[in-house]
Amino acid sequence: MKFFIDTANIDQIREINDLGVLSGVTTNPSLVAKEGVDFHERLREITSIVKGSVSAEVVSTKAEDMIEEGKKLAAIAPNITVKVPMTSEGLKAVHAFSEEGIKTNVTLIFSANQALLAARAGASYVSPFVGRLDDIGQNGIELIAQIAELFDIHGLDTEIIAASVRHTMHVTEAAEAGAHIATIPHKVFMQMMNHPLTDKGLHDFLADWDKYKNR
Ligand code: E4P
Repeated sequence: MKFFIDTANIDQIREINDLGVLSGVTTNPSLVAKEGVDFHERLREITSIVKGSVSAEVVSTKAEDMIEEGKKLAAIAPNITVKVPMTSEGLKAVHAFSEEGIKTNVTLIFSANQALLAARAGASYVSPFVGRLDDIGQNGIELIAQIAELFDIHGLDTEIIAASVRHTMHVTEAAEAGAHIATIPHKVFMQMMNHPLTDKGLHDFLADWDKYKNR
């Protein structure tokens, strides 16, 4: 499973990219609004740092407007993926983008049927929202497993991005369930690196080395 970062914050993107573990970035209108910056300018900055897929979401609701907006986003850099909401208008736009060779990420996926439709429309990626399903008492990871199984049975090559990741167990479980990618908030990336026994082990190694050097 590959790792994307789920943020529009440039410092966070740089920090995780420097670790050598990053394959892409996802943004959404809420994440961009939080940054208070020009959207296209921020996408230029992000795509100059990260060479993998960078998802940029359209905010239009009609297919023809989504197509116009998405083409402008895709023109910013060759690694822009146009993020489109899972609606009937969104599916039409995804189909049009796929005919033109523009990559798409269908977002706000909450059921297997939505994922199947998005894949058939030509989506490059689907983004099931694990955390938001958990929030309403449904099992987000089970949905990832179900979509992975269905895509496998039917030979669909659309990649599954586990989105709305809230904690480290979501990452491990998404990998086990067959997600191709998890898009992870910066805070969860930091938590993934830590373990108290790593800290204690390193502390003890260095203390022993210090004693040995000063013997
Ligand atoms: C990413 O593609 C999604 O927009 C994002 O993961 C949603 O996360 P949230 O449910 O924490 O807002």
